[in-house]
Amino acid sequence: MAGTVYLNGDFVESSLAKVSVFDRGFLFGDAIYEVIPVYSGKAFRLTEHIQRLDNSLEAISLNLNYTIEKWTKILEEIIQINGRGHQSIYIQITRGCEKTREHVANQNTLPTVLVMSSPLDVNIAELSPIKVTFLDDIRWQNCFIKTTSLLGNILLKQHASKLGFDEAILHRDRNITEGTTTNVFIVQNKTIFTPKKDQYILAGITRDVIIEISQKASIKVIEKNITLDDVLTADEVWVSSSSREISPVTQIDDKIVAQGDIGPMTKQVHQLFQTFKNQLISA
Ligand SMILES: Cc1ncc(COP(=O)(O)O)c(C=O)c1O
Repeated sequence: MAGTVYLNGDFVESSLAKVSVFDRGFLFGDAIYEVIPVYSGKAFRLTEHIQRLDNSLEAISLNLNYTIEKWTKILEEIIQINGRGHQSIYIQITRGCEKTREHVANQNTLPTVLVMSSPLDVNIAELSPIKVTFLDDIRWQNCFIKTTSLLGNILLKQHASKLGFDEAILHRDRNITEGTTTNVFIVQNKTIFTPKKDQYILAGITRDVIIEISQKASIKVIEKNITLDDVLTADEVWVSSSSREISPVTQIDDKIVAQGDIGPMTKQVHQLFQTFKNQLISA
């Protein structure tokens, strides 16, 4: 991360942006965040990202009172300063900085607000197959909150990585939830299935776009419980996120999916996604 960041009302050079060691984000992970892709200077699904940010704030009873207009202005400035190419905007809001380390926060503490930008990997528009492993979802019960307390996700992703996999598909009682940094889709008989939104998954913005554009293209999408067996017998499997868009899964543990190829529905939805993105860029 380089360039200029927004910190508590000021635009400052990143090396000069400082947060106290008493900040509750640092001490407790008492913080939430958002990641917003920016394509050719245009923020992708900004309203939806800010709505999810507000949902996270509400879920942890953190009052911030930034309007969508205020966010839009801050982001426009950050995008402008950091160049109008593809970027990934990171927003983090903590419950603020206090004099002592107390679990119960003072209601009057001012939140810490940070916005920064990093270059977005343009190769994400290419479909690159990944290998995944199934792991027990050992995280907490409130995965719909986009919290910076990501230790559960990190331990799982590191475990998958040590085993030689790119991502883990997580499950509770043999029902899949999501990936460590992604949402999960499977295809059976030309129908797309994905777990329904609940407290155990993050409501991915990419997930919602995929559902919307697929339905518009008359592809059937069903949101329902998906078991490990459903995934193992699926015709196609992919995972989605803002940072990676769509990643086809061609191997789950030692099982090869879709004969190790990128399936036709994955290719079609990926193409729909690129068209959707390009419409935003040229609007
Ligand atoms: C746990 C988890 N699930 C799903 C997603 C996908 O969300 P989005 O499409 O909004 O990036 C992410 C992205 O960071 C994530 O961390």
